[in-house]
Amino acid sequence: MIPNLAKLMFPAKDIVGVDIGSYSIKIVCFVQEKKQLKLKDWGCIPLAFKADTAPEEKKAIIAQEIKNYLKKKGIQARYAAASVSGNAVIVRYVKLPKLSPKELALTINVEAEPFIPFDIKDVSLTYHILGDITEDGQPKMETVLVAAKNEAVNDKIEIISGAGLDPLIIDVDSFALETLYEKLFPGPDGSAALLLNIGYKVTNLSIVAQGVTRVVRDIFIAGATFDKAIAKILKVDAASAEAAKKKKGLLVSDEDKEAAIGDFDKEAISVSKAAAGVLKDLYTEVSRSIDFYLSQGAEHSISKIYLSGGMSNLGNIAKFMAAEFRVPVEVANPFAFLGEQARNVPADVLPTLAVASGLALRRLKDWEE
Ligand SMILES: Nc1ncnc2c1ncn2[C@@H]1O[C@H](COP(=O)(O)OP(=O)(O)OP(=O)(O)O)[C@@H](O)[C@H]1O
Ligand SMILES: [Mg+2]
Repeated sequence: MIPNLAKLMFPAKDIVGVDIGSYSIKIVCFVQEKKQLKLKDWGCIPLAFKADTAPEEKKAIIAQEIKNYLKKKGIQARYAAASVSGNAVIVRYVKLPKLSPKELALTINVEAEPFIPFDIKDVSLTYHILGDITEDGQPKMETVLVAAKNEAVNDKIEIISGAGLDPLIIDVDSFALETLYEKLFPGPDGSAALLLNIGYKVTNLSIVAQGVTRVVRDIFIAGATFDKAIAKILKVDAASAEAAKKKKGLLVSDEDKEAAIGDFDKEAISVSKAAAGVLKDLYTEVSRSIDFYLSQGAEHSISKIYLSGGMSNLGNIAKFMAAEFRVPVEVANPFAFLGEQARNVPADVLPTLAVASGLALRRLKDWEE
């Protein structure tokens, strides 16, 4: 049989976003057909390693899982975008002296060093100039510095390559979320949004105002913290605590609370109490970032929370946070811009695919450029 030459020479621009989390791997693949974006497929692969699995072995297992998924779904993609977050990356918004692009390229390591808490030799450093300003009569540039630990970047490259894909982009979780947010809510709208992606080990926070990101930070309060608090109060192991968390959620309204008391549902009351305690701690950390943002002469206060990650499925979490922060909370639907196409994706999967979707969109953006 003669191979389809057109197909060989012009491979479909399949775009695979691969979000390798500590709880699950999330995969989103879009294709562009006649300028129309189509959802080719999505996947959410749970990860459960034995306690003694070595890091190298974990990487091989993850790569194999991705490979199996692509094969099963018949996705013949070449390129992928993956991301790093947590301890592996630091993002700083800083003011640097005004320099020409050439001068900056030569001196960036020296300029950035005071802001980066890692050894500059161990990181890949990138930067982006947001604009010129004058401070104390001196011309300066507002700059975003991104330092990602080489080791973490290399791990992701190794996994993606091991899965048979070309790791074209290694992004940052928070930036992927911003790409998605921009796609869903394009253009400046005179307000600021807080993006919170609550996963298993880490919560990615960004504040986006007028289409520009102002604060990016990862907070180490997430799903595992909830499980630990619930395990303590129920005196059970983490796995049972997690199951109770999924089953019971938070009690927010007076009716819910009264019903739980009336039913002698001690488990529901305890789970809610433990989860609310963790959310208060998260609130304290998030408030710090909001205060920091406001102290930078922000023109817009936070008017909305855009919630994603597996933990957005915790029963009543949006209601709880809306009451706490006193702003509306929207749970992410990363396929909202696709209309009817994504109607078969289960509601609890949608918010977990936010980072993967942003990564896949990032690829698309780059094709267009
Ligand atoms: N229905 C549910 N109710 C409550 N929590 C849930 C539910 N479904 C998933 N979760 C929680 O979501 C968390 C996993 O979220 P997610 O898949 O976004 O993490 P991850 O991206 O793999 O982790 P990380 O980015 O932190 O490494 C787990 O703590 C899990 O218990
Ligand atoms: Mg995650």
